[in-house]
Amino acid sequence: MLQTQELIWTWLLLGTAVCIQVTVVPSQVDVDVGESKFFSCQVTGGEAKDIFWFSPSGEKISANQQEISIVRNDEVSSTLSIYNVDIDDAGIYKCVVTTEGEGEMEATVNVQIYQKMVFRNAPSPQEFTEGEDAVVVCDVVSVQTPSVMWKHKGRDVVLKKDVRFVVLANNYLQIRGIKKTDEGMYRCEGRIQARGEIAFKDIQVVVNVAPSVRARQTTVNATANLGEAAVLACDADGFPDPEISWTKDGEMIEDDSDKYKFTEDGSEMTIFNIDKSDEGDYTCIAENKAGEQEASILLKVYAKPKITYVENKTAMELEEQITLTCEASGDPTPSITWRMATRNISSDEKTLDGRIVVSSHARVSSLTLNDIQYTDAGEYLCIGSNTIGQDSQAMYLEVQYAPKLQGPVAVYTWEGNAVNITCEVFAYPSAVVSWFRDGQALPSSNYSNIKIYSTPSASFLEVVPDSENDFGNYNCTAVNRIGQESSEFILVPADTPSSPSILKLEPYSSSAKMEFDEPDATGGVPILKYRAEWKVLGEGEWSSRMYDAKEASIENAITIVGLKPETVYAVRLSAINGKGLGEYSPVSEFKTEPVQGEPSAPKLDGQIGEDGKSIRINLIKQDDGGSPIRHYLYTYRAKNALEWSPETRVPSVSNHFTLKSLAWNAEYEVSVIAENLQGKSKPARFTFKTLFEPTAIPAGPSSGSGLGTGAIVGILIIVFVILLVVVDVTCYFLNKCGLLMCIAVNLCGKSGPGAKGKDIEEGKAAFSKDESKEPIVEVRTEEERTPNHDGGNQTEPNETTPLTEPEKAPVEENSKPEDTEAKTTAPEVKTIPNNATQTNENESKA
Ligand SMILES: *[C@@H]1O[C@H](CO)[C@@H](O)[C@H](O)[C@H]1NC(C)=O
Ligand SMILES: *[C@@H]1O[C@H](CO)[C@@H](O)[C@H](O)[C@H]1NC(C)=O
Ligand SMILES: *[C@@H]1O[C@H](CO)[C@@H](O)[C@H](O)[C@H]1NC(C)=O
Ligand SMILES: *[C@@H]1O[C@H](CO)[C@@H](O)[C@H](O)[C@H]1NC(C)=O
Ligand SMILES: *[C@@H]1O[C@H](CO)[C@@H](O)[C@H](O)[C@H]1NC(C)=O
Ligand SMILES: *[C@@H]1O[C@H](CO)[C@@H](O)[C@H](O)[C@H]1NC(C)=O
Repeated sequence: MLQTQELIWTWLLLGTAVCIQVTVVPSQVDVDVGESKFFSCQVTGGEAKDIFWFSPSGEKISANQQEISIVRNDEVSSTLSIYNVDIDDAGIYKCVVTTEGEGEMEATVNVQIYQKMVFRNAPSPQEFTEGEDAVVVCDVVSVQTPSVMWKHKGRDVVLKKDVRFVVLANNYLQIRGIKKTDEGMYRCEGRIQARGEIAFKDIQVVVNVAPSVRARQTTVNATANLGEAAVLACDADGFPDPEISWTKDGEMIEDDSDKYKFTEDGSEMTIFNIDKSDEGDYTCIAENKAGEQEASILLKVYAKPKITYVENKTAMELEEQITLTCEASGDPTPSITWRMATRNISSDEKTLDGRIVVSSHARVSSLTLNDIQYTDAGEYLCIGSNTIGQDSQAMYLEVQYAPKLQGPVAVYTWEGNAVNITCEVFAYPSAVVSWFRDGQALPSSNYSNIKIYSTPSASFLEVVPDSENDFGNYNCTAVNRIGQESSEFILVPADTPSSPSILKLEPYSSSAKMEFDEPDATGGVPILKYRAEWKVLGEGEWSSRMYDAKEASIENAITIVGLKPETVYAVRLSAINGKGLGEYSPVSEFKTEPVQGEPSAPKLDGQIGEDGKSIRINLIKQDDGGSPIRHYLYTYRAKNALEWSPETRVPSVSNHFTLKSLAWNAEYEVSVIAENLQGKSKPARFTFKTLFEPTAIPAGPSSGSGLGTGAIVGILIIVFVILLVVVDVTCYFLNKCGLLMCIAVNLCGKSGPGAKGKDIEEGKAAFSKDESKEPIVEVRTEEERTPNHDGGNQTEPNETTPLTEPEKAPVEENSKPEDTEAKTTAPEVKTIPNNATQTNENESKA
């Protein structure tokens, strides 16, 4: 039934439509959100009176709305424009046409609006902090619900099978405990199955890491007051790179002073001009958006000790005590010690006698002296020391005391002899010294023979006694602010010495040795001389001789000489001082010995010297043959050499002599003769060998003097040339012959005494022109000594020593002036008896 009705309606409609028809073009559209579309409503087969449009909600659309406009184009059409389509705009729009007579007709258009997927809330980048449960946000908006998946590095994160990755119900991606390695690009992808639509958004996931910071050194040491700089450094990690700031004891350190300097990233802070106040706890704070962390550094500032306080003190002698104080600063706290000129005192020490006590508290040390003595005065050094250094400063203790006097109380002199009475004064402050005699201040007109010399430490009263009255007491008085002290000095008349005593007489044939005891009393002044007197017993006149007291007192013996043999003598001795000749000893007698003859030869032994080529020959005295040995004569040569060295004299008091500058590893023999008044002994012989040359000294075996062979040859040549010239000159003047003479004759026409040239050519001239006046000149040349060269190398010392050092004979310590005769035998030219100048004069006059 219903179907029949519809069919009828359709028929009716179709019947009418034959006349007038209404269409909307297009009649079906899909519009994207935001698009704009227009639709035309067209009437065919007639005219339309009105054309209306109705919205899907059935409301009539008025002509001019914001997003929708209706324009009636002509009699048969109207256009509906929809701008910026919104989802709400979807639905069936109806175009209703009213006609004249035909009634209303209508057509519709179904506007279907669909929406592309859009990402509403999917910012990029999204930042998280490492470790947190991160949720990556992505809202996909669409009309139909899309399915969303997340991709990372091209793979679905779900397929990663990493439980940390979860796509939440709202399609957000949760990454639990996000790590730095999770960072990267994530793709949020939406799909709508119905439409096959895909939309995606790449989201940058950033993982921030909270800073971690470490101090490079947790303690930094620095020294104060040296202009030093200290560097504190922290190393920080984190993402983004953290910024580092610094605090000291909780207070922010500003960047703007000269005191601090920071590196660009703030990781190092330099503190300039370190002083004690810079010590403290420093903190470096590293900070980024993920968080902050800090590390602390202790800056320890050490300070070298510095003595900050000392004080000079003044004390009085016998004061009970005085305390010297010394303060020192420094870190670590310095320990203080004290030093005096004579000793070191460490802190907290008590000296043995308890007079000095040192006590220290922290930076202060005090040194207490008890029962002050004047010798305590002086410099006290206070020394502060700690592990990094020390400082010291001196302070001075003055001790004031009354004068103290010293000096020999009894002073001896004799009339007319000036003497000083010495009054030594110790005083602080210094004292004024005055002298008195019988209550009268000196000097005075009554005592004109007195002078006073003053030095800071002593006063000398110089007295020249004229008479007995000048002897006696003198009073030295010293006064200073503290007190006065006086002392009596006695000027005592000196006496002549008492008699010495003769202990023993040792007679020889012509001399006698007398041993004696010094006088018991010197008379107050030193003994200057001894006087011995002797005479042949029974005869009248005393012979006498003075002996120097110093020399005589070495052995307490003197020797009387010039006696006759086998004669009885009486002898006595007296001592002499400044005052005069003392008492004579009792007379002693002795008889001289008969003449016996020459002494026996001494015995010899020797010790090679440390240098290996010198020797000390010891002389062991033997019988003197009845009269004292006058001296010894020695000579030596290399073994097998033809010639002996010149004789050298050794005084009889010596018990040894030394030979020096010998050749290495050479055998020598020494011959020594003792001589007394009667004559010479037989020679004593001694042979020895010098050591091998040490390898360290490079020199030829023949270079006895340590010179190279070349040098010796050179010296020999020079000496030879000089000798030739000397010989020639000598000959010229003496004999009018020689090379010079030839030149002179040839050039100047002088006539030469040709007869004497022969002698010179022989190299030896010894003659006397005039028996009485002419000198005898003995000339020895190199040629004459040639045999020595042939004799062997070992003769070197004999030659080189005199040649190179003609003034120095091998004897040294035992030489006395009288021995120079022996020493100078080395030179090759001898003038006897006159010297060369006389010779020249004589000759040039002739
Ligand atoms: C700083 O000084 C202390 C004490 O002298 C010492 O123990 C420490 O090793 C020093 N530290 C450095 C880094 O020099
Ligand atoms: C102590 O005395 C000395 C000289 O006697 C002087 O050089 C020094 O300056 C004095 N010291 C003080 C602290 O007065
Ligand atoms: C005191 O100590 C110093 C340094 O240790 C030393 O050189 C000096 O000889 C000492 N002086 C005395 C009198 O001991
Ligand atoms: C006494 O002492 C003074 C000063 O030292 C000196 O000049 C003088 O020569 C001395 N007199 C005698 C006799 O020694
Ligand atoms: C010198 O001595 C005489 C007699 O003792 C005395 O009266 C006189 O005052 C003395 N002169 C001086 C200057 O002291
Ligand atoms: C030395 O002379 C002074 C001053 O006249 C006097 O006070 C003192 O007692 C005398 N001293 C002696 C030991 O006579």
